[in-house]
Amino acid sequence: MEQVALSDDLTISRIVHGMWRLSEWGFSDKDTLNFVEQCLEMGIDTFDHADIYGDYTVEEQFGKALSQNKSLNDKLKIVTKCGIKLVSKNRPEHYIKHYNTSYGHIIWSAEYSLKNLQRDNIDLLLIHRPDPYTDPYEVAKAFNKLKEEGKVKEFGVSNYLPSQFHALQAYLDFPLVTNQVEISVAAHQEWDNGTIDLCQELGMSPMAWSPLAGGAIFSAQTHRYITLKNVIHQVSDNLGVSIDQVMYAWLLNHPANIIPIVGSGKIERVKAAVEARKVELTRQQWFQIWVAARGESVP
Ligand SMILES: NC(=O)c1ccc[n+]([C@@H]2O[C@H](COP(=O)([O-])OP(=O)(O)OC[C@H]3O[C@@H](n4cnc5c(N)ncnc54)[C@H](OP(=O)(O)O)[C@@H]3O)[C@@H](O)[C@H]2O)c1
Repeated sequence: MEQVALSDDLTISRIVHGMWRLSEWGFSDKDTLNFVEQCLEMGIDTFDHADIYGDYTVEEQFGKALSQNKSLNDKLKIVTKCGIKLVSKNRPEHYIKHYNTSYGHIIWSAEYSLKNLQRDNIDLLLIHRPDPYTDPYEVAKAFNKLKEEGKVKEFGVSNYLPSQFHALQAYLDFPLVTNQVEISVAAHQEWDNGTIDLCQELGMSPMAWSPLAGGAIFSAQTHRYITLKNVIHQVSDNLGVSIDQVMYAWLLNHPANIIPIVGSGKIERVKAAVEARKVELTRQQWFQIWVAARGESVP
């Protein structure tokens, strides 16, 4: 599979796999290892994590499974995130969900992720959500320390508006390499809030979370989703591919070099995502989906 260069030092696979739902799949360590091996065979070498996934358990589950095959670990690129503090039985000291992007917390969280993942370094660390109480100077200080110590290779953000991206970037001596945001046939806000423009301005690839709208299109309930699903079906019938492949291709065909993060725990669905790289939509098919999602023609 093709690789996307996020910087001179880091490339990631064109399709990334996301581990948010790992704890729901009922996988044993052997199942997890097997799943990761099959992803690698398909060319997916990049896995998306966050400290909070699975109520703070997924990184440890993944690290434990991968420790059974140490040589595999060297072939993987790990993206993880920090900054959200959940109310959780695993964090009894939190009585309200909040954010923490202080120097101390970023360092602590990255080191905790490394310990759980059983790795020496993280390829890409993201601030998970914009923090209204952030001090960009502290974030930059933490990023510098983690970089100097070789614990994190590159840094980025998630769910940031362009203004929030620029505010943090202004404190850094190196570029943020991505903004991980929600983009799908049903989620267009990144076109409206200027993030896609920012990515194209900087030549920076955005990572797309919930590329299938979290599965909501398959079980479409609302008028908007039913209309959208019907149009996606029309396109998929014309192209002779599945509707999930049309949804991935809608992202992959876009000139902004959007990197979908596949969230399925079923390997045949991951394979469908990988195959979707070969699906070409015409400009009019792309707009058919855009218009169906918006509920109105372009002006
Ligand atoms: N940065 C952020 O704030 C943020 C937020 C959310 C997610 N993420 C990242 O993005 C990744 C992907 O998000 P996501 O899991 O929401 O992705 P998604 O692909 O939009 O949704 C995955 C869900 O759709 C279901 N699904 C997939 N194909 C299907 C099909 N053909 N028919 C029916 N159901 C189907 C999956 O079930 P099966 O497992 O049964 O296939 C799963 O429940 C996460 O793992 C995480 O790494 C980041």
